[in-house]
Amino acid sequence: MSALADRPVNPVVGVAVAHESAALHVTGTALYTDDLLGRAPGVLHAWPVQAPHAHARITALRTAPALAVPGVVRVLTAADVPGVNDAGVKNDEPLFPGEVMYHGHAVCWVLGETLEAARLGAEAVEVDYEPLPAVLTLAEAIAAESFQGAARTVARGDAAAALARAPHRFSGELEIGGQEHFYLETHASLAHVDESGQVFVQSSTQHPSETQEIVAHVLGLHSHEVTVQCLRMGGGFGGKEMQPHGLAAVAALGAVLTGRPVRLRLNRTQDITMTGKRHPFHASWEVGFDDAGRLLALRATLTSDGGWSLDLSEPVLARALCHVDNAYHVPHIEVHGRIARTHKTSQTAFRGFGGPQGMLVLEDILGRCAPLLGVDPTELRRRNLYAPGQSTPYGQVVRHAERLHAIWDEVLRRSDFERRRRQVAEFNAAHPHLKRGLALTPVKFGISFNFTAFNQAGALVHVYRDGSVLINHGGTEMGQGLHTKMRQVAATALGVPLQHVRLAPTRTDKVPNTSATAASSGADLNGGAVKNACDQIRARLAEVASRKLGIHPADVRFADGKVTGLGFHDAVIDFADLVRAAYAERVQLWAAGYYRTEGLHWDSTRMQGEPFKYFSYGAAVSEVEVDGFTGAYRFVRTDIVHDVGDSLSPLIDLGQIEGGFVQGTGWLTLEELRWDLSDGPNRGRLATQAASTYKLPSFSEMPEEFHVHLFERATESGVVYGSKAVGEPPLMLAFSIREALRQAAAAFGPAGRSVELASPATPEAVYWAVEAARRAPVPATDGLAGPGATRDRAAAGASANAATGGGAPSAAATGGALGGAAADRGSS
Ligand code: MTE
Ligand code: MOS
Repeated sequence: MSALADRPVNPVVGVAVAHESAALHVTGTALYTDDLLGRAPGVLHAWPVQAPHAHARITALRTAPALAVPGVVRVLTAADVPGVNDAGVKNDEPLFPGEVMYHGHAVCWVLGETLEAARLGAEAVEVDYEPLPAVLTLAEAIAAESFQGAARTVARGDAAAALARAPHRFSGELEIGGQEHFYLETHASLAHVDESGQVFVQSSTQHPSETQEIVAHVLGLHSHEVTVQCLRMGGGFGGKEMQPHGLAAVAALGAVLTGRPVRLRLNRTQDITMTGKRHPFHASWEVGFDDAGRLLALRATLTSDGGWSLDLSEPVLARALCHVDNAYHVPHIEVHGRIARTHKTSQTAFRGFGGPQGMLVLEDILGRCAPLLGVDPTELRRRNLYAPGQSTPYGQVVRHAERLHAIWDEVLRRSDFERRRRQVAEFNAAHPHLKRGLALTPVKFGISFNFTAFNQAGALVHVYRDGSVLINHGGTEMGQGLHTKMRQVAATALGVPLQHVRLAPTRTDKVPNTSATAASSGADLNGGAVKNACDQIRARLAEVASRKLGIHPADVRFADGKVTGLGFHDAVIDFADLVRAAYAERVQLWAAGYYRTEGLHWDSTRMQGEPFKYFSYGAAVSEVEVDGFTGAYRFVRTDIVHDVGDSLSPLIDLGQIEGGFVQGTGWLTLEELRWDLSDGPNRGRLATQAASTYKLPSFSEMPEEFHVHLFERATESGVVYGSKAVGEPPLMLAFSIREALRQAAAAFGPAGRSVELASPATPEAVYWAVEAARRAPVPATDGLAGPGATRDRAAAGASANAATGGGAPSAAATGGALGGAAADRGSS
């Protein structure tokens, strides 16, 4: 058996094939969970009763009026739960709550013969509420000391001492907005109880095993009495990692109590008002640089907005803390993290899982400080990139750091950066009301679940007597192309054509105890397990073939459905014939595969260890154009060089990079969640409840010129067929768009001035950044980067922080903290 990363000749991995469901997607014939509705005779429909308060005690709940509505069959309440009334694993998420914790919280669920009957029934349910004060923003939560879960710190060296010594010191704050997943398929479950009493739930879930566990504990059953299946999802993006469980449990509970199938599908408004989103973050920071612009120290406090319950907030925070460094070496560092509890949806996983928020903090710092240091931002970034041999603040060596530099140089070359930088300068000199910006930002992203135990996977591979192959693995398909890759892995490992391999839907009774398909690790983990199963079968087949060919089993070769011997090709056995012969000899033709990622360890309390198998690298150059009258902008061109190792499936990887980049651009520019922060009756209501008010990026937000290049000769040893994960890292390439916007805004004002940009950098936010730049006085010319000047700025920043209680994230306060102080008060 060969090493995991080795490829045979003519592998099926690495071939550019279309997504295995592409034809079904575009013809509308791919089935999603809710499409199975027609196959469930007698199905009941579920509709939630959503609370109209952000925080309230439920003092009375009268379901009788609902039961009087024609077609209403049952109302599910806490009293119906035979097991544990909790939708999560932390025991802080009552499925049927006694206390409303956010606006739109489902209090109970109505089952009806039709969806309309269920809806009318839900309208008829009478609930008495005693409203309670609600904490909504991070500023309110920090002021009220409303926190949840464990606070964590990542530290190395002595940040305080290094800051005190640093010749250039700055401080500031940053507020980072959340993001709605807006998967095309909203949450859906379809549950029934089969003839033997087995509860069977079809669910749009990224984590079938956890859905199974939670359905079981709600129903008071064991896991072997519950089966969860996921056909495919119309997008998950992390939003279906934890959030489907309670919904599946409601459907399952209804099915058990009524004896009829129950279908629960959230409509868009319900999905957007009830389910968790990307965590908003607040960061306050102090940074120190040496005279060459190298980072000396960073001290920061990150506060995430976890919403009403913990959900995945702790691991999301851990990943944020492990990614504050992004691609840069920070010798002395001390970053504290904590989770606020607010009366909003329970924020959850979203592509990047906290990594983007952590990384944005340092990218924002570099973008803001470069002009104050008198260093070009691209040069400032390059100077601080990790060098080979250096390690992260949590103690893991940055293996292949040289790839970062190679990717950096390559994207400079491919984007024709130097020439275009001059062009942008000329363009800006010639256009008073239009300015362009050109920025390069890198990405380093750790691959593996921080929580070591999740880094395992299973697979089940059947070879039938006719030589056809059916595979099953623990990962779920959400559009990312995992199933396509797994078919390619199996075809490669067994040496058969791709068409011979079929894939069956993900089910907990085929492969048990699976991890969420998340952390971009789906292909690494399940690919390892699929290959392991195939290798077992192939080794057994090789024994049979070796006897037929009269050679040693190690010399048997499998490729393209033909079995031959090393070095001679006159004797060729058809794969199907070999399989039939093996069956006749009573050789086992199927296998269970297993994979565990080697070499990982993580101390989640000390925040030290080697949590990641490897790092994914990439870099992007983006050019944007900003209109000075409105702040509107267009994305002129983006060039990306990204490291996916040796790609398992180049077309899939290309799509992941493009899609991730555009989704990241949406988060950083257009997508803005607005909650009613007033003291009126709708306090806490999400105002952006639909595509009409929540602006998603679409084709028109694709860069007008978009080049994606896969980094070459990038074999990753120790990963299936030398590949690397791709799902999340490209999202953070969109930092280049934000930094280009910052530079374009800066071009409206005098040089040497720090530009602050809100996140998301909506056209409105960009307009205010342009306005601030335009109104700024020309900074004093002497000693901009001199020690005296920066000391003053640091002091001014610190006092501005103190004035706002060290944490109040108002834009005005942060505006004065850094660049403003420098510009308005002058230097020494
Ligand atoms: N791509 C599509 N089309 N749809 C998705 O929902 N989810 C992303 C990413 N790419 C997603 C996607 C997220 S959040 C993750 S963690 C990975 O895919 C998960 O799949 P993988 O581990 O197989 O890469
Ligand atoms: Mo992805 S946020 O890890 O599901």
